[in-house]
This record gives sequence, C-alpha cells and structure tokens, in this order.
Amino acid sequence: MAVSLRRSKLAIVGAGSVGATLAYASLIKGVAHDIVLYDVSRAKVTAEVLDLRHGLQFCPPADIDGSDDIAVCAGADVIAITAGAKQKPGQTRLELAEVNVGICRDLIPRLLEVAPDCVLLLVTNPVDVLTMAALEFSGLGKSRVLGSGTVLDSARLRQLIASSLGVASQSVHAWIAGEHGDTEFPVWSSASIGTVPIADFVSPDGLRLDDVARERIGRDVVTAAEQIIRGKGATNYAVGLAATRVIEAILRDEKAALPISSLIEGQHGVSDVCLSLPSLVDKNGVMGVLDVPMSEREIGLFQASADAVKAVARSVGL
Ligand code: 2OP
Repeated sequence: MAVSLRRSKLAIVGAGSVGATLAYASLIKGVAHDIVLYDVSRAKVTAEVLDLRHGLQFCPPADIDGSDDIAVCAGADVIAITAGAKQKPGQTRLELAEVNVGICRDLIPRLLEVAPDCVLLLVTNPVDVLTMAALEFSGLGKSRVLGSGTVLDSARLRQLIASSLGVASQSVHAWIAGEHGDTEFPVWSSASIGTVPIADFVSPDGLRLDDVARERIGRDVVTAAEQIIRGKGATNYAVGLAATRVIEAILRDEKAALPISSLIEGQHGVSDVCLSLPSLVDKNGVMGVLDVPMSEREIGLFQASADAVKAVARSVGL
C-alpha cells in the first residue's frame, strides 16, 4: 500500500534579509517539505530562490520556490510575514508601525484567499502591534495568529547569562516578557540554571549574577538590535533562527513553550493587547498562554509594556 504523505508548506512573505535568512534556516533545519518566498520584486525573489535552490543538496529533502505572484503561497500551512520597512539607527520598532500596519492591511486578506487554513506568524516590526493588526485584518481565531515576539530576546538573554556564568545557554531557563522592544524585561524571579534559581546560583568557578550584573544584562538585551543595526544596517541571523524555531514547533505539533507574541486575555491584569509570555505552540498555533509567576515589580513592568503597545496600536487605528 502506498504511503500517503501530506507535504507541509511554509510561505515566507518578503525576500529581504530576514525573509531570505528565514528561508535559509528553515531549509537547513528541514522544517517543511515545501518552502516558498513571495516578494513584490520579481528580480529579488527569483535570485534568492535560485541561490537557495543551489544549496538544496546540502539540506534535508525539501523544495524551494518563489514568485512576485501571491498565488505561490497557495495552501501554505504557515505564512511568515517578514515584509516591511526595517528599523533605521535610532528608530524604535514602534515608529515603524504606521507603514507596516498599512502593508499588513493590504497583504493579509489576499494571503488568506490563497491559504485560508494557514497559521499566520508575524516577524515584521513592531511585531506586537502587527500581530494585533493581523488578528483584526484576518478575522482568524486568536490561536492562529502569533508573532515571533521575544523568542529572539529570550535567546539573547540566555546567551548573555550563559557567557557571564560560564554555562551552556541551553541550561539557562530565562524569559523576556512583554513587548519585543524597549519596554521588554527579563522575568528574573523565575530564571534558573538547571533547577537552581539565578539568585542562588554560584558557578563552579564562583561566578554569580548580582543585581548590577542583572541590570546590565537586561539593558544589553534591549539594546542588542540597535548595536547590530548601527554596524550592519539590520539584524537577520538570530531573528531568522528564532522564527524558524516557532515554525518548527507549529509544523511538528510540538506543544513547545516559547515566548511568542499573542493576544493576552487577563494574565497579570492585562487584556486586549498582543505581548510575549511563554505559550504552548502546536500545529494550530497558540495552544495556550502560560500563567507565568511574576514579582510585583515584574507585573508592573508587564502592565507598562502593555500600555506602550496599546498606545501605538491606538495611534494606527487598531
Ligand atoms: C531584532 O530585535 C530588529 O527586532 C529585530 O533583532
């Protein structure tokens, strides 16, 4: 009896540095059988697809295609939206909102015409505002619209903690919560190395994180993108890998806890806004937002982050 295998399909909207890197990382990690790139520039998308296609033999089995015709996204299981204006040095993610919400307003209905059953993953900044916009413009249920949120920031936090303490970043359990932006914050109260709370951890070499070190690391996470943007104009590798991790959890139905951006409904007194909290991600998108314990101070920071994102959402008519 022939095995009937349903092929998984990832569509990436935008063949700029983030979209192309996301396609590259997704190919290398073998997250989908079919990967397509859609971009309004036929020359750009054709060149990116050709360059990626020439590397297929070094990757797990997959096909890559692309077009300036949105029909190339037809039947996608996941659509990752990376298209939009990118941050300029000194520009905050929230200042990008008006332009990129406008792009989403036009794009999303047309994407859903060709891929009505997809999960929408927003990557473009300001990702929390755009996730709210995508919820509104798509009319999809809240589970099927999510943003890359602070998956990237939490990876930055873990890497900084790991290098400060001389431990593997995979053994650091710490999250960034709130906006993917200037009001994000580390949830230090639940951070740990293995099962040892960060506050009590002393490395074999006697290294520990005091308040000053924790403040510095929190600041370094918030300013990480700005430092990279000043040097090379944009970030792409880590955000591409972070988005790939979310797509992997969806297409493999992992039920994995990831700090994605999604609609918050009541956690720590916050509602009607998209922010990042650790959430379970499965084949349908957001399976559920976890009730992460926070200190009083952290709850205040979470509520302040909600206010910042809501203010921008209101300013662009959401
Ligand atoms: C980043 O944090 C720019 O949001 C992007 O790398």
